[in-house]
Amino acid sequence: MIRMCFLLSLLVSASAMADEPMMTDFGKTKDGKAVELYTLKNDTGLVAKVMTRGATLVQIHVPDKDGKSEDVILGWDDVAGYESEDNQYFGCTTGRVCNRIANGKFSLNGKDYSLAINDDPNHLHGGVERSLDKVVWKARPYTNDRGHGVRFNYTSPDGEEGYPGTVKALVSFFVPKDANRILITYKATTDAATPINLTNHAYFNLGGAGSETVLDHVLQLNADKYTPTDDTLIPTGKIVDVAGTPLDFTKQKRIGARIEKLTDTAALGYDHNFVLNPKPDDKEHNFAALLRHKESGRTLRILTKEPGIQFYSGNFLKGQKGKDGKTYAHRSAVCLETQHYPDSVNQKAFPSTVLQPGDEYKTSTLLQFGIAKGATGN
Ligand code: BGC
Repeated sequence: MIRMCFLLSLLVSASAMADEPMMTDFGKTKDGKAVELYTLKNDTGLVAKVMTRGATLVQIHVPDKDGKSEDVILGWDDVAGYESEDNQYFGCTTGRVCNRIANGKFSLNGKDYSLAINDDPNHLHGGVERSLDKVVWKARPYTNDRGHGVRFNYTSPDGEEGYPGTVKALVSFFVPKDANRILITYKATTDAATPINLTNHAYFNLGGAGSETVLDHVLQLNADKYTPTDDTLIPTGKIVDVAGTPLDFTKQKRIGARIEKLTDTAALGYDHNFVLNPKPDDKEHNFAALLRHKESGRTLRILTKEPGIQFYSGNFLKGQKGKDGKTYAHRSAVCLETQHYPDSVNQKAFPSTVLQPGDEYKTSTLLQFGIAKGATGN
């Protein structure tokens, strides 16, 4: 009997261990920093891998209607890929301020700040060398009775990439035991007023990363309005109805159905910030987007506490080679970036992105994978 109990407890602890986030080496950055990769798994078929460089989602495997798993996000098999010119923010945490800041300039408390111009004539995704996607974060894996996750911490010193204040940032990825979901939580504090707008920049193709196109994916956005932009993708400040335009995704629509009709920006496709309809008071997260791929049956629902979502249809993907030598062609993946609106720091009428000392920035987004109703293998 005692022997039985011992064996049983061994078995139980072995299966608990199998569920713990597993760490492997992912190589070194050019400047010699070791990068760690953590694997998060659950009982329902989801496998997610996250690395310390850029607190980045590297892989997300989810089953299709026949139970066949496929990695549905773009990326590379090593750090060198992520450090290469081909990396267009694949899977990373984007910040300190994601999206664009007009002319790389803003003023806070009577002081003017100038940031790197890396998307001429604007500042994009937090800068050039020390933006949050390029630095190596510290990881702390954890397990609780609901599932497991990894917390990434990074302290960005005052003045890094031109932004004021020392910012302590935390991003965590949590996978529950019993549902194919990833909860991404973002927190930050500062010692001086500073703009903060964090998102994840995963490129999804629910047919599997490396599939030819996302034009056949169906999309729904919970947004009656969007923020039109000038030719450099900076919002004009207006908030306009999507009704009657190719931006109307209030009902499920094929991404490719009207993409060629987009004429109002230089975006070469969808690259727009949508204003999410207000969150119902009784819900923790607001429904933001539903992405559906008919052939595989895979769906992705995105829920968030953020007021906006940038829908980017991979217009600048250029056929770079990624994981397993797969090709990432023009419009072969879609980004659905939950966030505050672009250039908010210069747009007084938009919800504020300024974090004050003593306050905490806290937000979260849920990636919920599933299979479309009626999409069975038979
Ligand atoms: C932007 C695009 C940009 C892409 C990659 C998206 O968030 O909206 O304009 O090309 O990121 O940098």
